[in-house]
Amino acid sequence: MSNIYPSTHPLVAHKLTRLRDKSTQPKKFRELVREISALLAYEATADLLVVPRQVETPLAVTNGAELKEKIGLVPILRAGLGMVEGVWGLMPSAEVWHIGLYRDEETLQPVEYYNKLPIEPTVSVCLILDPMLATGGSAVATVDVVKRWGVNRIKFVAMIAAPEGIQAMQDAHPDVPIHLAAIDERLNEVGYIVPGLGDAGDRQFGTA
Ligand code: PRP
Ligand code: URA
Repeated sequence: MSNIYPSTHPLVAHKLTRLRDKSTQPKKFRELVREISALLAYEATADLLVVPRQVETPLAVTNGAELKEKIGLVPILRAGLGMVEGVWGLMPSAEVWHIGLYRDEETLQPVEYYNKLPIEPTVSVCLILDPMLATGGSAVATVDVVKRWGVNRIKFVAMIAAPEGIQAMQDAHPDVPIHLAAIDERLNEVGYIVPGLGDAGDRQFGTA
């Protein structure tokens, strides 16, 4: 599968296992989401463009680099919120633009309820953040929104994906790379990822 990047980092595997564990409580769950997000974002941003910049150390002037691209973080409410802090820690000058979508429990279709993007794009690359890529409906709809905004350099960062969600993204947006902690087996009859981790929003916010 081109453009799909499941992490092979041992720290990601270790933390993901604790995240999946049904006995992990919301405080620890949020901490793990934050940490895994930072590790995945580190991998996802390996191709960001830089421009040369000289810097004066206490000893000499030397050649360095600074980021060229303006980065936007786009968490999908609500579960994507927990991914912001870890990623933002790595790139504190990134802008954060929230998109509110929930998945209708009956139809599994995404319903948009929050979008305050300005008319003109203010960033050149967006990292869309959502822990779960299940049917892919929410991810596809959010990439649609971000592309309509005018940003075409997009990366999708998630904890766990089902094959169905990956397929939906590849059909709709084959240009968008997907960075993941794991690809799981399947969706169950109500659209949950198996083995997965349950409901990522409920487990973060203690609303199960
Ligand atoms: C979850 C998850 C994704 C979506 C994935 O959100 O965080 O946004 O489901 O499912 P899909 O790939 O089938 O669209 P949910 O709708 O539960 O909302 P929440 O984050 O507000 O709890
Ligand atoms: N949303 C979740 O939070 N978990 C799933 O397994 C699927 C969608």
